[in-house]
Amino acid sequence: MKKGLFVICVAALLTAGCKQTGATEEDRFIDNLLSQMTLEEKIGQMNQLSFDQPLDSIKAKIRAGEIGSMLNIDPKLIDEIQKTAVEESRLGIPLIIGRDIIHGYKTVLPIPLGMAASFDPQLVEAGTHMAATEAREEGITWTFAPMLDISRDARWGRIAESLGEDPYLAGELGAAMVRGFQGEHLSDSDAIAACVKHFVGYGAAEGGRDYNSTYIPEILLRNVYLPPFQKAIEAGAATLMTSFNDNNGIPASGNDFLLRTILRDEWKFDGFVVSDWCSMSEMMSHGFAADRKDVARISANAGVDMEMVSQTYIEHLPQLVAEKKVPMEVIDNAVRNILRIKYRLGLFENPYSKPGKTSTIYCDDHLKTARRAAVESAVLLKNDGVLPLKEGQTVAIIGPMANAPHDQLGTWSFDGDKNRTVTPLKALQSDEYKGIKYIYEAGLDYSRDTDTSDFERVKSAVRRADVAIVFVGEEAILSGEAHSLSNINLIGAQSELLKAVKSTGKPVVMVVIAGRPLTIERDLPYADAVLYNFHPGTMGGLAILDLLYGRENPSGKLPVTFVREVGQIPMYYSHNNTGRPAQDQITPLKDIPLEAPQTSLGNTSFYLDSGKDPLYVFGYGLSYSTFEYGNLNLSSNEVSAADTLTVTATIKNNSTTDGTEVAQLYVRDLVGSIDRPVKELKGFQRIFIKAGESQTVTFKLPVSELAFYGRDLKKKVEAGQFDLWIGPNSAEGLKASFTVTE
Ligand code: BGC
Repeated sequence: MKKGLFVICVAALLTAGCKQTGATEEDRFIDNLLSQMTLEEKIGQMNQLSFDQPLDSIKAKIRAGEIGSMLNIDPKLIDEIQKTAVEESRLGIPLIIGRDIIHGYKTVLPIPLGMAASFDPQLVEAGTHMAATEAREEGITWTFAPMLDISRDARWGRIAESLGEDPYLAGELGAAMVRGFQGEHLSDSDAIAACVKHFVGYGAAEGGRDYNSTYIPEILLRNVYLPPFQKAIEAGAATLMTSFNDNNGIPASGNDFLLRTILRDEWKFDGFVVSDWCSMSEMMSHGFAADRKDVARISANAGVDMEMVSQTYIEHLPQLVAEKKVPMEVIDNAVRNILRIKYRLGLFENPYSKPGKTSTIYCDDHLKTARRAAVESAVLLKNDGVLPLKEGQTVAIIGPMANAPHDQLGTWSFDGDKNRTVTPLKALQSDEYKGIKYIYEAGLDYSRDTDTSDFERVKSAVRRADVAIVFVGEEAILSGEAHSLSNINLIGAQSELLKAVKSTGKPVVMVVIAGRPLTIERDLPYADAVLYNFHPGTMGGLAILDLLYGRENPSGKLPVTFVREVGQIPMYYSHNNTGRPAQDQITPLKDIPLEAPQTSLGNTSFYLDSGKDPLYVFGYGLSYSTFEYGNLNLSSNEVSAADTLTVTATIKNNSTTDGTEVAQLYVRDLVGSIDRPVKELKGFQRIFIKAGESQTVTFKLPVSELAFYGRDLKKKVEAGQFDLWIGPNSAEGLKASFTVTE
């Protein structure tokens, strides 16, 4: 039987490369295999286990055809386990081996929020491709990324894993990640299957507390939360993961509207759906399923093809099928979806790891990519002229994040070796920076440290230097899954450390290395410059020095709003206007007269204590160059839905430093069948401009891109007046208007 199957597999694969016939051969292959499978073997394909049982017991299950996929295997065991599946199970169906390769495998890139700050889809694609190459080399064929949860709440620890607050940016970069992971063909030796997650709305967890409920009406789901997923699926994402949250009372792993109506019927997704870790059995805690059998019934019928870890399918689907509570067709379709991806990965022909002649892990090219990514991901938030530093100056290196090799890698980096991390301190000892004189005095051992007893030594070190660089931020463990915070100020005694350094009178550069946008307004008076890095990965230290010393020019822009106070959350640029938008001038809390009359402050929408504006807006980021925008031009002021608007502007680099600007295109639909956001990002471009020179930036904006789901829940462009901006961030820029006609 197995031999026969093997012949079919190879025949099928021989033609799989040919695009015209590929689909047909694929279907034939899958149907043929399916026809040979018992119900138990089919259900086995729908079962994914973590490697948390003795090897022998795992192997016995694989032999019996009870497992379709494994995650968290020690990569050294992958081939051995795969051999059991391929050579010792009745039908020889290979396993798909999943792992969380979220921002690099061994060579660690900045966390996704940092990658998003690059606004650079090519770089994001190259970075994820690098990760895929390293992983596939070791037999990993599936990653659980990209995470496309729109994140507008910095308390939520998983904001670190997100691509920020904006659906357009997340969609563009999410699609780039899918292309990067999956390469040209999934079967290539440098490709792995992507998994878009978490479907859907997880980032809107109430209060920013992980796993919490969400309440997102369909109209908001369709206009904000779903678009990045749709783009990533259009880019070919092979798999999708359901989320932990219940939205409007329905847990995602039991939501057939999401998994069937939207995903399959509307988007024509033909990959497979995996649940999140026990998100199916957790439907009992939600109060949505009565028992484990109920769990299996609900999720199978809702459209979850593979169950991660909780094993209710293997326990209960045979009985549920016998009782006709889960139709056989549901099982067959789920298995088809899974086999389709295994087939496309080329696993039937080539199930094992693919080491090349020389390993790509930590190769020079990958280190270069990681360094470039860390450079482009850093955002310069403030510079009173102290940066770039001069290489002849003596610097005091202060702070717990100056030499934190583990923490610099950020959340979800299981495979990165901290001994390979180049911290800022280590970078100063490298050949490239060894000429720089520095004095190192950490002051605090780690970010939560509250022991200030070293502060006098810190001050003395700073007094002996020309300038101080204070590395503050967060340990990796303070962000990521289940690591939400209700206070997002600098933790421990880091603010006090900064004050102590500033009290010396020396110029202070604050370098933040963190997993989220922290509330740093209270720290700004103590820093002459601020460079913000979302945990920047293996090469972060060198990248930071490159930027501080002007060997590179900062170009990152914020993918998420920085609030002044945690109480402003959620605050995001793309909000609706309200009936009472705040005035530009609002009375500061301290200036409110005693016994002021109730309406004397103007009844508008702002916080008495923190105003209407965030600290830094979405899209914000400085450079050592200064850019001036001019000559905004639209190809027409009147367009119809079928047209494409060409928008141009000139950008002049007014400085003596070459630099890259991220030009951003925003629109506002002034009147709609539902309120429309005050601004929406519709395009961005990184443009390198030499000192003193100008460049024209051109955006092609298909008017169809202005479509949204209106009151009737149909997606269309509504005729009317629009404003448009091209500028350096979401609050500034040149403005024009145009009309969309019926
Ligand atoms: C996370 C997923 C992850 C999975 C597998 C879950 O706890 O929510 O994002 O991919 O574990 O490790």
